[in-house]
Amino acid sequence: MFAIKTFLALSSIAMTNVVFALGPPAINLGTSGNFVVLAKSGVSTVSPSAITGNIAVSPGTSAAITGFSLIKAGTFATSTQVVGSVFASDFTAPTPATLTTAVLAMQAAFTDGNSRTANATINLGAGTLTGLTLAPGLYTWSNTVNVVTSLTLAGLPTDIWILKIAGGFNLAAAQKIILTGALAKNVFWVVTGSVNIGGTSSFAGVMLAKTDVTLVTGSSLTGRVLSQTAVALQKATVV
Ligand SMILES: *[C@@H]1O[C@H](CO)[C@@H](O)[C@H](O)[C@H]1NC(C)=O
Repeated sequence: MFAIKTFLALSSIAMTNVVFALGPPAINLGTSGNFVVLAKSGVSTVSPSAITGNIAVSPGTSAAITGFSLIKAGTFATSTQVVGSVFASDFTAPTPATLTTAVLAMQAAFTDGNSRTANATINLGAGTLTGLTLAPGLYTWSNTVNVVTSLTLAGLPTDIWILKIAGGFNLAAAQKIILTGALAKNVFWVVTGSVNIGGTSSFAGVMLAKTDVTLVTGSSLTGRVLSQTAVALQKATVV
């Protein structure tokens, strides 16, 4: 009886105090996580976009941040399209060094994500995803991924998803990445090719892109977009 009671007591302690997160270890974004949009060569907007958070370009300069009608203020700039600050490598110190560090962190995060192989689900749907629901985990594709109809990621707020794509990534127009229980900060997209978020679609997660990302007219993104080349926003919403 004592043994049973002790066991029950210990189990209940374990049940209430320990949450077992499913999926791979998270990717550490370092200081790149201070930006909702970070790009090396440029960020463009077709006005009006609506960005909540900081955006930055480095080593590109503020000349490569186009369509924002920037109001420069020394270390940063503002724009009516940004609730937050805009940074570029040609602004006053310490901004250039801060951005260099953030870009290195973004690149390290991509390299980490792109190196993951453990327990992967490989080439699901041969890259054509139609109305799937994915549990936490690592998913890898050797070619381009097309989300044709909305994709759901279902789990708990502590669970992690890494979607590693060796080709490009396309979210079809008017489709959604739906998070059910999942948090955008725990969903990592690691994409080697070009990224296209279709018109009026809604994307979720941290996009670690090796090259260009385009948010086509009226689309939205919840999370971050961290690109090693350029980000094009066309009347897009980023939060
Ligand atoms: C892979 O799966 C095993 C068995 O479930 C688990 O112990 C291990 O932590 C997993 N590794 C990663 C990196 O997810």
